[in-house]
Amino acid sequence: MPPFSTGFKTMQHLRSHNAFVRQVSATAGLGLSCSAIRFSSSSESQAPHLKLPFQRIFAQISKDEDTGARSGAKMVKAKAFKVHKVGGPEVLQWEDVEVGEPGEGQVRIRQTAVGLNFIDIYFREGIYTHPTPFTPGMEAVGVVTAVGPGLTGRQVGDRVAYAGILGAYAEERLVAADRVVPVPSNIDDITAAAALLKAGTAQFLLRRLGKVERGVKILVHAAAGGVGSLLCQWGNALGATVIGVVSTEAKAAQAKEDGAHHVLIQSEGDFAEKVKEITNGEGVDIVYDSVGKDTLQQSLECLRRRGLMVCFGQSSGLPDPIPLGALAKKSLFLTRPSLMDYTSTRDELLECAGEVFTALAAGIIKVRVNQTYQLAQAAQAQKDLKERKTTGSTVLIVDSAEKTTGMA
Ligand SMILES: NC(=O)c1ccc[n+]([C@@H]2O[C@H](COP(=O)([O-])OP(=O)(O)OC[C@H]3O[C@@H](n4cnc5c(N)ncnc54)[C@H](OP(=O)(O)O)[C@@H]3O)[C@@H](O)[C@H]2O)c1
Repeated sequence: MPPFSTGFKTMQHLRSHNAFVRQVSATAGLGLSCSAIRFSSSSESQAPHLKLPFQRIFAQISKDEDTGARSGAKMVKAKAFKVHKVGGPEVLQWEDVEVGEPGEGQVRIRQTAVGLNFIDIYFREGIYTHPTPFTPGMEAVGVVTAVGPGLTGRQVGDRVAYAGILGAYAEERLVAADRVVPVPSNIDDITAAAALLKAGTAQFLLRRLGKVERGVKILVHAAAGGVGSLLCQWGNALGATVIGVVSTEAKAAQAKEDGAHHVLIQSEGDFAEKVKEITNGEGVDIVYDSVGKDTLQQSLECLRRRGLMVCFGQSSGLPDPIPLGALAKKSLFLTRPSLMDYTSTRDELLECAGEVFTALAAGIIKVRVNQTYQLAQAAQAQKDLKERKTTGSTVLIVDSAEKTTGMA
């Protein structure tokens, strides 16, 4: 029996989201004007060779990753991973760094836990590119240790989290204050580090892009993975019929527990055929495909007339181009969305984080942190993720935080 029924109680929880989100937004506001949000186009011109059009998304990376090393600035010693040359896990170098005082609009964070994401592998391998050296990692939680001049709304000691800002594989770092969100006291650091990017992705895919509700049929690839597990849980709670695709029996069992009504094992034949059988030949309303190369063509076959193909990742490699004719056959919609484009304003970010934290607190979703590693073991963690050995979410514990806070 899936733990997340589509019952009335759950839907009531969901309806209370908006009120809660408004409350979170009000208390989380920062004394920053919109002009403090820096989406500079200068870094686009620094990286004209990007293989994927992600320059805009990561336009603020170069600045945020800046360690603040200025003459006269007080420096804090820390450890961080650096990538000097893209390649295998061995290119992750654990180095001493110095982090300076936060500049205008920034805070310095002593991190306690870092979320591992497949995107970390894309950057390390050079599928998404960034000038080297860079510090990988997109998601973490920690405590504010310094605030930039004139900044209001954030103070030393605040527990904050962020998602989508390169440079997370570090003990301490600078980050734009308008991209961090306060972490409610009922959410622990490990959950928060695993949640913001992955559950934030599930939130925008289901609640904003897809408008999933009772009666909608969805197909979720990598249904036992970090994002996939949350898509199954949240999709079920919203009333959808959820069909998951996974690679092993063990992963199938987890996806079922997470609320997938049907689970298909990829190696056991043509999943499009099975989807048609399950849906009486009609097909699903939405496919959430994060696998890419190995699945996208077949995923299109799973859609009903006027269905929505959401290609949001490529863990098996970049998919082949889709000719317009392939969409014309059933008047399909195709999108390649990114969390960054759905949380690009402060209001959108707070709404997304608010819904994620509410859903966690209400038990609508739970983040399965099935693996933890010390941050210094990030190379092994990435290797395991890439080799499909992980399930649910993985968190990298910051060794120094463990010593000072007793975090397990
Ligand atoms: N667009 C966005 O804003 C956004 C945001 C977050 C994540 N994503 C994407 O969502 C996907 C999931 O991210 P995640 O961090 O939660 O990872 P994950 O799903 O925990 O791990 C990837 C999973 O993909 C499946 N997979 C299928 N073929 C694979 C292959 N050839 N190599 C490796 N894995 C393969 C594996 O599950 P099975 O063994 O069951 O097949 C594997 O466990 C990634 O593609 C990521 O880029 C996109």
